[in-house]
Formats: sequence, structure tokens, C-alpha cells
Amino acid sequence: MKYDITSLKLADTGRRNVEWAERRMPVVRKIRERFAREKPLKGVRIAGCLHITPETANLARALVAGGAQLALCASNPLSTQDDCAAALVKHFKVAVFARKAVDRKGYYEHINAALDFRPQITIDDGADLVSTLHSERLDVMSNVLGGMEETTTGIVRLRAMAKAGALRYPIIAVNDAHTKYLFDNRYGTGQSTVDGIVRATNTLLAGKNIVCAGYGWCGRGFAMRARGLGAHVIVTEVNHLRAIEATMDGFAVMPMKAAAKIGDVFCTLTGDINVVRKEHFRAMKDGAIVCNSGHFNVEIDIEGLKSIAARVERATRPNLVGYVMKDGRTIYLLAEGRLVNLACAEGHPAEVMDMSFATQSLATEYVYRSHYKLRPEVIDVPQEVEDWISRTKLQTMGIHIDTLTEEQKKYLGAWQEGT
Ligand SMILES: NC(=O)c1ccc[n+]([C@@H]2O[C@H](COP(=O)([O-])OP(=O)(O)OC[C@H]3O[C@@H](n4cnc5c(N)ncnc54)[C@H](O)[C@@H]3O)[C@@H](O)[C@H]2O)c1
Repeated sequence: MKYDITSLKLADTGRRNVEWAERRMPVVRKIRERFAREKPLKGVRIAGCLHITPETANLARALVAGGAQLALCASNPLSTQDDCAAALVKHFKVAVFARKAVDRKGYYEHINAALDFRPQITIDDGADLVSTLHSERLDVMSNVLGGMEETTTGIVRLRAMAKAGALRYPIIAVNDAHTKYLFDNRYGTGQSTVDGIVRATNTLLAGKNIVCAGYGWCGRGFAMRARGLGAHVIVTEVNHLRAIEATMDGFAVMPMKAAAKIGDVFCTLTGDINVVRKEHFRAMKDGAIVCNSGHFNVEIDIEGLKSIAARVERATRPNLVGYVMKDGRTIYLLAEGRLVNLACAEGHPAEVMDMSFATQSLATEYVYRSHYKLRPEVIDVPQEVEDWISRTKLQTMGIHIDTLTEEQKKYLGAWQEGT
């Protein structure tokens, strides 16, 4: 089996971390047990471009138990956990091409190595694998039956591809399932983004002005958790409805230009480009901390920041670089503007990834079984898949709820009865 990882020696530590996550992923475990019995993916070649974390390893274990052959590469140069990559190769029979802190060239070499595997199914997080396949690797396109996409930014790119008539095979929008975005984007990103900022800086959030750019599912999770730690949260938005929601949720809403003057910590979670840029850096206070938790490292204009800095301070702490301005102010950038929750912490906790990766596993089974009747477009996760996952998750949490009586079912399905 081919692979490219930092060191196989880390495999046993990685295995312990994978097993620690597994204990908190009961839904994926149930799917793995069924897959092991039924082998619904027997002999299917799958290439995944995902964050190489213990939670992803548990998705990989479920797919391999189902009979799949799997190659994985990283969906971000800084998010790979090298011990987990080693465990996947040594203990779980997965061909991994991922090293933490790989450069851009290495990142795309790894994507190409996963495509050399001639996948029949792709699992992507951000659509770098799919866009490489469609632009540079048409030689392996004829094998592909279908795919899945994990994140909002990937869905935006795929919809643009579908609209332009460029998408060549059906892709299931795992991100858009309720069992994914309501929990992963909100509670997962909320907690792990705060975790990344705190691990990188050890700064106290209580009493600070924290600026949250974007009040989508990730933004509202981050704003909620930062408020929970006592921060004054300021939201910036470009969408009127979401700005109203943020206001009624009790946050201050203003343009970035105004927030720049008063913020202590800035975090972008928009999926957009250059949300924080030179005009904002010029207005920021000395010691301001800037980071990103959106998918790509384009939300902060890093080149702009470099261009107005007099010098750069690198050695203060890991994952933190100080840009010293000509007037003596220093602005601190975390993790080179890449996903702060994965680069400075460990990404989402296993409990939420249980739902995201249960959705991925069952969507993989669905796309393999149904590819012949699906068109090359972005497709919703089937409702019965979402229903099974939410029911099973709640059961594994030991929570019971009421069920509709026959009278209630009839009432809710009728229109005649009023006051
Ligand atoms: N850190 C993680 O682990 C993680 C997890 C899930 C998703 N993501 C990524 O986070 C990003 C956001 O995802 P989401 O699900 O919250 O998306 P979303 O579409 O629900 O929300 C994005 C919000 O940003 C706003 N926005 C866009 N441009 C803006 C600008 N210039 N200024 C202020 N606000 C702006 C939009 O109006 C929208 O409300 C995406 O890139 C997604 O892929 C990251």
C-alpha cells in the first residue's frame, strides 16, 4: 500500500486517540457494525479529502468495514494530526497522503496521489479534490460514480460548477443535511474555534470585545460560545436577515470598519474573501488578535497585512505571528489565517462529528447504490437517512421524547378543524 505520512512511529498514540473518539461516536459505530455484516461497499474504491483527525479515522473505519478500499488526503495543510495519519496506515488499512504543515505543492501532490487510486466515489471537504479532478485529472474521471461534500464552501463551489454545466457526476450535499450543519457548524465550530483561540493565545475572553464576522451557522455558534465566556460579542454581516437575527439574539451589529476600532479579537466565519483587510488593520488597537475559522485562508487579507507591516515577530508562541506596524502597534495573526479550530486546536469534538460522519457513511452507501439514477448535480441527503441518524443519536444520548397519538396525527394532517 502506498502512503506519505510524517512517521509510522506515531501509530500507537494515534490509535489511542482514534479509540478515544470512537467511544463518543456511537452512531458511526452502529453503522460500522452493520457495514461489517452487510458489506455494502465491497471492493469500492473511495478517495477522501478530509481533515485527518481521529473523528475522520472513525469514518474511515466504517467505510473499510463496509468493504471499501480507501485513500485519504488532507483538506487543509495545517489540520493533519500526524499520529492519526500513522494509525490509519498501520492499524486501519487506509492509504494516507497527509503531513501536517505541508506546503502548497505537497498539498496538491497528496490530492493527486489520492486520485491516482482511481476512485469510484469521492468524499470532499471544500471541493479541492473535485475541482482538481475536473480540471487536471480527467484521466481518472470515467471511474467516478458519485461523491459527497462536507462543508459550506465546497457546496458553494459545486453549485457554481453545476450552474456552469461543468459538474460531471452527482454529489450529495452532506453539509446541507440538518444532521450536519445544525450541530457541526454551530456547536462544533462554536466550541472548537474558542478552543483554538485560547490554546494559541491563552487570552482571557471575559470582558473582551470579540468580533465575529458572519452570522451563519458557524458564526452563531462562535458568537454564542464567546458570549458564554463573558465576551462582548460584535457581529458583522452583509445579509439583512442575519443581521436582524444577530441583533435580536442580543449582539451588537456594525460594519467591520467600526468594529475594527474596538475589537480585541477578530474571527472570520464567512466563506468570503478579504473580509478583514488593510483599511481595518489600520484602525485596529495595539495587540489585536486576528484569526479565521472559515474554510479557506482567504478571509483575512494577509498580503495586505504584510504590506503595511514594518516588521514581523515570529517566535512569541506557536501558531502566532506578530505584525508590527510603522506606528508601533502589533497585530497578531493566528495559524496563517487558516482554520483556527483545526490548526491551533483539534477541530470539532467527536460527539458532533458522530452525526456528520454518520451522514457521510450513509450518503456513501446511498450514492453507490443509486448512482445510476442520479443526475450530475448537487443532491440533498435523503430524508430517511436524516431521520434514522437523528433518532439513533437521541437514543444513544439516552433521551426519550413523546410520540404523536393517532388523534394528533390525524389533526396535523387535516385542514378542516379550526377554532
Ligand atoms: N471551522 C470549521 O471547522 C468549519 C466547519 C464548518 C464550516 N466551515 C466553513 O465556515 C464558513 C461559514 O460556514 P457557514 O456554514 O456558517 O456558512 P453560512 O452561509 O451559514 O454563513 C456565512 C455567513 O457569512 C456572511 N458573510 C458573507 N460575506 C460576509 C462579509 N463580507 N462580512 C460579513 N459577513 C459575511 C453571510 O451573509 C452568511 O450569513 C464556510 O467557509 C464553511 O465552509 C468551517
